[in-house]
Amino acid sequence: MSPVLEPVSEWDPTSWRDLAALQQPDWPDTTALDAALDELRRQPPLVFAGEARSLRESLARVSAGDGFLLHAGDCAESFADFSADNIRDKLKVILQMSVVLTYSTGVPTVKVGRIAGQFAKPRSSPFETRGGQELPSYFGDIVNDFAFESAARRAEPQRMVRGYNQAAATLNLLRAFTKGGFADLREAHQWNLQFIASRREGRRYDELAQEIDRALRFMAACGIDLESEAQLHEVDFYTSHEALLLGYEEALTRRDSLTGDWYDCSAHLLWIGHRTHQLDGAHVEFLSGVHNPIGLKVGPDVTPDVLVELCRRLDPAREPGRLTLVSRMGAEKVSEHLPPLLRAMQRAGHPVVWACDPMHGNTFAHESGYKTRHFDAVMHEVEQFFDCCAQQGVWPGGVHVELTGDNVTECLGGGDEVRGEDLESRYETRCDPRLNARQSLDLAFRVADLVRR
Ligand code: PEP
Ligand code: CO
Repeated sequence: MSPVLEPVSEWDPTSWRDLAALQQPDWPDTTALDAALDELRRQPPLVFAGEARSLRESLARVSAGDGFLLHAGDCAESFADFSADNIRDKLKVILQMSVVLTYSTGVPTVKVGRIAGQFAKPRSSPFETRGGQELPSYFGDIVNDFAFESAARRAEPQRMVRGYNQAAATLNLLRAFTKGGFADLREAHQWNLQFIASRREGRRYDELAQEIDRALRFMAACGIDLESEAQLHEVDFYTSHEALLLGYEEALTRRDSLTGDWYDCSAHLLWIGHRTHQLDGAHVEFLSGVHNPIGLKVGPDVTPDVLVELCRRLDPAREPGRLTLVSRMGAEKVSEHLPPLLRAMQRAGHPVVWACDPMHGNTFAHESGYKTRHFDAVMHEVEQFFDCCAQQGVWPGGVHVELTGDNVTECLGGGDEVRGEDLESRYETRCDPRLNARQSLDLAFRVADLVRR
């Protein structure tokens, strides 16, 4: 008999289990797996349904053209790089980019981090071979260890509990930073990281921060009580990750006591990756039933009919803000593949946010062996995305990027002209190459120009 692949009619947090789930690790010890999932089920939620609803409302405004989504962070968080400084510096860059975008475009920036739970990674092959030895691939720190050794690569369920705890601690710090004074607009000068303050992007940012200071002083002089305006002192910062490990996501899914609806409380927004968007697959089934805002990566393999059907499955009620489609075509493919998809969604009359991930379609192996991306290709994809949206009369709703607050050399080009021979000097990512802080700020200024245009 063939496996049951029909969408199940009654959704519950476990209904995905009847369908084919791609990209799940092979957990050798199922008793340990059950114990870890039981432990996760007993943990408090990381986010609350009301917060997920606020994000959905903000994204609804983006889908109507009144807002811009900045979705950014690590490709994969790791246990080893977990530190307060690391989280703070990533937040600083995202806050800077957000100020640049909001100030230049005049529309609110919705800030969503790939953070506080972005651990699990889909892989092109379940196995990796080096020097004749074959081991399971690295699926992210929440599954196994990066080191190419057989014990390290064994999938270890307790890592999910550790991932949950690290996500909780990260979120706690993010909440403190964003609500406790650090994100106050009057502190905007302080977000410039030391190693970029004297560079072109850093100076440009500083000038903008001075203009904001002047505007705030002007408002105060006009008698506006700035102290009482919470929006000036706090920001809403949301968390997200790829909902890859369905056991983990199921264990953190809870029913909201106010509405009775199910929410995946592991993050505010969850997205479906490029490799797991099968219409009859477990990932689509699982995410169709939780009420969080959902992202869907859209690559060149997705046809207009399939996209419309995926949106119908994931958002039958057509709720604005529920769905963010993240185009990740590759710079050379955008103009061919994106316009038919934009048109199909317009014809279907389905309200979505269209965002651009200019990273994942532009990865290549440099001759040095390092996986990299060129800043120019990244910018080229963003420009193509904006052009296609303009031609179709669609609001270009946001960007989705992999970045870090550190001075890494993982992506080529940009203000510092990272060259092929520089890659090895500070190549720190476990997975995909990230923009460094200077490249990120540069991108924000360029995207702001595109939005204004
Ligand atoms: C990612 O966002 O890190 C990723 C793996 O992307 P995609 O699913 O688009 O390839
Ligand atoms: Co990535």
